[in-house]
Amino acid sequence: MKERFMAKRSLLVGFGGFLPDRVVSNAELAERLETSDEWIKTRTGITRRHLVGPNDTAASMGAEAARRALDYAGLTADDIDAVFVATATPDQAFPATAVRVQAALGMKQGFGFDITAACSGFIFALSTADAFIRSGQIRNALVIGSEVYSRIMDWEDRTTCVLFGDGAGAVVLSASDEPGDRGILSTHLHSDGTAGDLLYVDGAVGQPDKSGHLKMSGRDVFRHAVGKLSSSVDEALEAEGLSYADVDWLVPHQANIRIIEGVAKKLNLPAERVVVTVDRHANTSAASVPLALDEAVRDGRIQKGDLVLMEALGGGLTWGSALVRL
Ligand code: UT7
Repeated sequence: MKERFMAKRSLLVGFGGFLPDRVVSNAELAERLETSDEWIKTRTGITRRHLVGPNDTAASMGAEAARRALDYAGLTADDIDAVFVATATPDQAFPATAVRVQAALGMKQGFGFDITAACSGFIFALSTADAFIRSGQIRNALVIGSEVYSRIMDWEDRTTCVLFGDGAGAVVLSASDEPGDRGILSTHLHSDGTAGDLLYVDGAVGQPDKSGHLKMSGRDVFRHAVGKLSSSVDEALEAEGLSYADVDWLVPHQANIRIIEGVAKKLNLPAERVVVTVDRHANTSAASVPLALDEAVRDGRIQKGDLVLMEALGGGLTWGSALVRL
């Protein structure tokens, strides 16, 4: 039996992202939909998105993001005890996308399972992995967000299909008992199923009569997002006795630049301290936060020791935040 390691904290030690090759601009969408680059840009900040090709899936993209995160961490799949995949667009109802990723990485040890919390999925998966690490059950984990929303879009519905993109992001978490306050400080999760009809996928396995398309009451979700994300960042800072001034970086879910700017304004954070990818990636749901994190760590904006606040809201409704000292 493996010796238990009572970790003080989970450190984020690896970062990876994957975006499929095909890039689709607003102008390209406007060629076949009653929309315009101007409308999409002004209302959302989005200029383009990446969309999967026929061979890309949540598992294949998640595995590639995971390989890059392992590489960054200087670890191999043999070092990993558990794989947590946040996805609302799994390859199959089962096996879980996480075990498909395990197989793609050549892992036979450990375990993996999927977490469904729509666009908040990465925060929920990070929180789950952190709890496993702190309890001493595992030492190293892959936490992945991977989504192919292009396959659940109604491509005739301009109110939703212009908003989303495909991709995957991953982090490696490692148990640490080093002194100081590096690592995941706390995570805060919420859900309210009474608002479930504001953003949902119409259908599931065993419901062939349904469309299988994403449906959203955009204006209502927008209203919830600004309020709930603001209270979620307050909750995270209060829990750690920290203030807005302590936050070095906001890494928000990338649904709409207007929502991101609303939360940043509340935190009094200048735009240079907010990681934005929505302009180039659109909304990649559970992949958006780890993709943004990967980009900002790799280009040197986010440095070791920085205090990073992540937040997300999605279908469920689900929402939450994570405060991490990198
Ligand atoms: O990641 C999960 C969480 N999701 C979100 O956080 C999304 C939250 N919601 C939003 O980001 C925004 O509500 C949207 C981007 C979805 C919509 O922006 P909005 O400023 O709330 O616009 P609206 O829904 O109030 O629509 C304004 C108008 C409507 O026309 P009328 O009724 O005023 O005549 C829409 O039919 O814009 C129209 N419209 C479009 N026009 C051109 C809606 N979609 C489009 C489009 N192109 N693609």
